Amino acid sequence: MSIERVIDTSLHEDDIDEKAVEFSLRPTTLEEYIGQTRLKKNLKLSIDAAKKRGEPLDHVLLYGPPGLGKTTMAGVIAHEMNANFRVTSGPSIEKPGDLASILTNLTDGDVLFIDEIHRLRRVVEEILYSAMEDFKLDIVIGKGPAARSVRLDLPKFTIIGATTQAGSLARPLRDRFGLQFRLEYYANDDIQKIIERSAGLLETKISKDAAKLLSERSRLTPRIANRILKRVRDYADIHKNGEIDLKTAEDALKMLEIDELGLDPADRNMLTLMIEHYGDRPVGLKSISALTGDEESTIEDFYEPYLMQLGMIERTARGRIVTLRARQHLGKI
Ligand code: ADE
Repeated sequence: MSIERVIDTSLHEDDIDEKAVEFSLRPTTLEEYIGQTRLKKNLKLSIDAAKKRGEPLDHVLLYGPPGLGKTTMAGVIAHEMNANFRVTSGPSIEKPGDLASILTNLTDGDVLFIDEIHRLRRVVEEILYSAMEDFKLDIVIGKGPAARSVRLDLPKFTIIGATTQAGSLARPLRDRFGLQFRLEYYANDDIQKIIERSAGLLETKISKDAAKLLSERSRLTPRIANRILKRVRDYADIHKNGEIDLKTAEDALKMLEIDELGLDPADRNMLTLMIEHYGDRPVGLKSISALTGDEESTIEDFYEPYLMQLGMIERTARGRIVTLRARQHLGKI
């Protein structure tokens, strides 16, 4: 990504410390997990039932925009099932053999989390079908006419798949998830609770009105809320006495250039370029990517979902349109 963004929802490779802090802020039980009430209720029923029957939980698909807590929820599910939590991702499984080795190393009841499951290669994905359905691994031994296929028994595990793009998952794969949940954007009140909880864990004092202000700038997204909280805490440590009151929060947000709707300079830049070059005409994803210099997937996964949620961008068959609301917000009308 070209500009370092506080509101970036991706986990950076280079901020290991950040990752460690982020992990320590994650809830481990359903009780501690704030928001996603409907999902939690349905999930709790399935978890309780599976535990009562002494069986592993059905496979779970979690989908929705980045930063809403898919990985966190997967960890919570494993914890609630008293199961081991193993983590991998679609792009990191290169060959069928890689997946075979992961699956044969599982034990009964394990939870295997596959992040970005829509990015699994087709040859790898096909192995998952019988693994998920029958707990069998079909492998081919040898080559040419001597090749034969064998079926190995696998332990009874649970796959939790996470994706930002449920639509791009192959139908046979999608159908093998007995439980499918969409994570929703959070209500401001819930984001405020998450900020207050995280501040407590970071041993930082924050006033109610400051927490409320930060929640309104966090794009309804916990990962962003925690990022902003940490940056504002840095500001409070250097410029104030370490406590975050309303004035400190306002000053820090001004420095971070995050506006009243939670938009940062990169969002405003993209909208401005779209308005200047296309006015109210639709723009294709490729053209937006050429305008901002960001990859198409970055625009689709990171900029668009929240801008659409806000009603700043509309997606049509002919491309993206910047709405009147966006032009009013940017004073370009
Ligand atoms: N930290 C990040 N996401 C959270 C959530 N949903 N509940 C509690 N703490 C969180």
